[in-house]
Amino acid sequence: MAHDKTLEAVIDAIDVNAAVPVEEPMRQYYYIKKCRQIVEEKKASLGRKLTAAVITFGCQMNARDSEKLTGILELIGYEVTGNENADFVIYNTCTVRENANTRVYGRLGQLKKIKSTRREMMIAMCGCMMQEPEVVEKIRTSYRHVDLIFGTHNIFKFAELLYSRFKSRSMIIDIWKDTNQIVEDLPVDRKYSFKTGINIMFGCNNFCSYCIVPYVRGRERSRAPEDIVREIKKVVSEGVVEVMLLGQNVNSYGKNLENPITFAALLKEIEKIEGLRRIRFMTSHPKDLSDELIEVMRTSKKICRHLHLPLQSGSTRILNEMNRHYTKEDYLELVRKIKTACPDISLTTDIIVGFPGETEEDFLETLDVVEKVRFDSAYTFIYSKRTGTKAAAMENQVPEAVVKERFDRLLNLVQTISAEVTMRDTGKVMEVLVEEQNDHDASLVSGRLSNNLIVHFPGSTDLIGKIVSVSLDECKGFYYMGHMV
Ligand code: 5AD
Ligand code: SF4
Repeated sequence: MAHDKTLEAVIDAIDVNAAVPVEEPMRQYYYIKKCRQIVEEKKASLGRKLTAAVITFGCQMNARDSEKLTGILELIGYEVTGNENADFVIYNTCTVRENANTRVYGRLGQLKKIKSTRREMMIAMCGCMMQEPEVVEKIRTSYRHVDLIFGTHNIFKFAELLYSRFKSRSMIIDIWKDTNQIVEDLPVDRKYSFKTGINIMFGCNNFCSYCIVPYVRGRERSRAPEDIVREIKKVVSEGVVEVMLLGQNVNSYGKNLENPITFAALLKEIEKIEGLRRIRFMTSHPKDLSDELIEVMRTSKKICRHLHLPLQSGSTRILNEMNRHYTKEDYLELVRKIKTACPDISLTTDIIVGFPGETEEDFLETLDVVEKVRFDSAYTFIYSKRTGTKAAAMENQVPEAVVKERFDRLLNLVQTISAEVTMRDTGKVMEVLVEEQNDHDASLVSGRLSNNLIVHFPGSTDLIGKIVSVSLDECKGFYYMGHMV
């Protein structure tokens, strides 16, 4: 995607021989220019372009961070492709469950082979895994082919750290334990021209007992509403019609600002932005979901008819052990209020199976909530023990075979209900934001309904980024086939 012209001009005007700026983001612009000179020299001496790959694991937050990394790499002069056989590869990692870590080590091992054939290659690691001291130690000692390691709090320093690595022969490691800093106006290269994630807050204060996120993403910090609105206006002027507001717990947005503001009030401000058509947000914590928010959702023309509301467990006893601050009945009551206000809403959720001490009775409570709520879809996870969390120290971890058996039963129920719920709009005409050409059939395009379901229908690629009316002819389980009307 084209670079931001104003940013280009600011960087062009920087004098690299002057003192290093102290203020952010000017300091990073300065280092972008310094790195750019080095990359230009390398290109000239190799007689070819330099390529880079940004590989993302985990959640939407990481996806958004990767767009920032990509924006910086492009300004520095790399051509960013998805191919790991590149001059620069960065892994933006996730550590929410153990299997995410295992995958990263596997990929990193394979990169060693590629690097042995490419002398110029550089490998960087960032994201949540890097906030765990054992991980950094393991990479430092056993994965010596890594060049640069940084964490979640100093991602804005990417250009500066890259410059340090260019100037040094050895591995650079820079991990911060926490930060209050939020650096605005870094370059970003959006994956899609018509939709984007927008960070509204960082970190999490909830300390659910199974979750490592508060340890690796630090304390909750909200961005100022003016900064958020300014960023959204800018992306809308560039063609974005849908934004996804991102935070670990968006319902507690704004509480710690100098001038506190609620998430519902922020949504009202965003709703006013002309040209913006759709607003999504994630993730909502049930304990903080206010009546004010339900009212804003009910009356909004732009907020999508989809709410992701992690349940985690249906057992009040387990929810208490999880430190979730709601009961089974609270959750069901919340769902009742939301469905009354927005009857066409699609509800999705996250559920963990096999939390320490979970009995068959506890598990049946979870199945009961799934049956009562009838989620459009549910992400189901096997409990994963994360070192340092309160649950990791709990006794009576559930045997693997029992967890597996419960997991299969849950998945079965979730899928049966999902297929029934999903088909409720068959025959209706609804608005679809067209996202891409269909992977399997080039005569089709694919897009999403307001409730986030995918629809495939005949159409050409110039529809991409447009919102069109589509008749939902046939439901195929978790997606629709349709035609434009
Ligand atoms: N084990 C299993 N699932 C987890 N999640 C978070 N931590 C763990 C864990 N230790 C799940 C929760 C959360 C989602 C993002 O990941 O369901 O909502
Ligand atoms: Fe983890 Fe709970 Fe925070 Fe979500 S709200 S990131 S599950 S601690």
